[in-house]
Amino acid sequence: MTTEMASAAPLSKIKSRIRRAMGPWGVFVEGFLKNPVMVGSIVPSSRQTIAKVLGPVDWDNTKLFVEYGPGVGTFCQPVLDRLRRDAMLIVIDTNPLFIDYLKRTITDSRFVAVNGSAADVEEIVRAHGHEKADYVLSGLPFSTLPPGVGPAIASATHRVLRKGGAFLVYQFTPRAGDFMAQFFKRIDKGLEWINVPPCFIFWGWKDEEA
Ligand SMILES: C[S@@+](CC[C@H](N)C(=O)[O-])C[C@H]1O[C@@H](n2cnc3c(N)ncnc32)[C@H](O)[C@@H]1O
Repeated sequence: MTTEMASAAPLSKIKSRIRRAMGPWGVFVEGFLKNPVMVGSIVPSSRQTIAKVLGPVDWDNTKLFVEYGPGVGTFCQPVLDRLRRDAMLIVIDTNPLFIDYLKRTITDSRFVAVNGSAADVEEIVRAHGHEKADYVLSGLPFSTLPPGVGPAIASATHRVLRKGGAFLVYQFTPRAGDFMAQFFKRIDKGLEWINVPPCFIFWGWKDEEA
């Protein structure tokens, strides 16, 4: 063993011990440091934000709930707690570190974690036996996504939603509303101050097929 290898082994052990001790917070910070533009925020959403965003969901009539950008799963358990026993939650994240973490820590049979892009939501939903989603939740950093990706995601989301379903979006800037307005005619808006930083909330309703 070279001197370099000998000193690298304890370092990686120390790193994984620190990660384990910090739990989801450590995984989130690591994901942020590896890809700050795609992750967009260093602090997970607050309980108040979660309750407000999920407030208008009609859980009795929800068979498929999709989440984009779950990170370390701040919304996943609250969604599963409200979801019917025969329903499904599909989460989609581009960061394999987050998807591996979610697969290891959430063992609920209604939960499916996919490493991929929200822009491919239609294929992902079909691959899991559904035609349409009832609700799509997004924590994506719309304002820092590469050009064209935000509108492509908003358009695919409108297509994948059933009539009467909704696109639930929380964001630190009001820009997500601009992307949504191209596809969603009716958008309700809100603001949650108890969040770091305070966040804008949009509920885009799909009232009719395009
Ligand atoms: C602000 S973080 C989400 C925080 C988390 N949902 C919460 O409530 O604390 C944004 C997430 O979006 C993911 N992401 C970025 N671009 C994406 C894309 N095109 N498709 C799916 N996930 C994406 C990032 O990897 C990151 O996990």
